[in-house]
Amino acid sequence: MLTVFDHPLIKHKLTIMRKKETGTKDFRQNLDEIGGLMVYEVTRDLPLNEIPIETPLCQTIGYEMAKDVVIVPILRAGLGVVNGIQNLIPTARIAHIGMYRDEETLEPHPYFEKYPSNMDEAAVIIVDPMLATGGSSVAAIDMVKKQGATSIKLVCLVGAPEGVKVVEEAHPDVDIYLASLDDHLNEKGYIVPGLGDAGDRIFGTK
Ligand code: URA
Repeated sequence: MLTVFDHPLIKHKLTIMRKKETGTKDFRQNLDEIGGLMVYEVTRDLPLNEIPIETPLCQTIGYEMAKDVVIVPILRAGLGVVNGIQNLIPTARIAHIGMYRDEETLEPHPYFEKYPSNMDEAAVIIVDPMLATGGSSVAAIDMVKKQGATSIKLVCLVGAPEGVKVVEEAHPDVDIYLASLDDHLNEKGYIVPGLGDAGDRIFGTK
């Protein structure tokens, strides 16, 4: 299922991120804030355990999260989405996936993978600011499924219709969340209107 957020705060903050004159500090701050706003909805269906607790007044029933949450940033730009989510789920574990693209076949190849031990039981949230061709998202989902993950969500900021289609066809069981579904991919693989190279804008590189 695809969810595209329709919220004034997200639209306002994403507009700041899109502007070419926005610098690294404001870009990162708005990315953190949008991540926090999105996680509220992304985690809506997480299971809870009921637990008996005692308040200063009486005994009652409270709740605690039934599953560990694992955030999986796709390096490098995905790292920029971790903070906003982790602020709201401080106990989340952070896995990492690094991939490079073969210049000839254009296929993504992993060069780094690191996971916690309980991927099969965890609620896994893969994060990458840009869902462009969908190639790296599909590969990342393949990789976490190989680790046993069954509860997987993909959270991106900006998506292209082409990339959404590729992910939906390869992994129909994975819910996709976007702050914006943009118009198209250009010939260089950039999302239009987009926000440029997310990794460079997050880390201040070129
Ligand atoms: N990656 C980016 O950083 N930006 C795009 O527009 C597409 C892929």
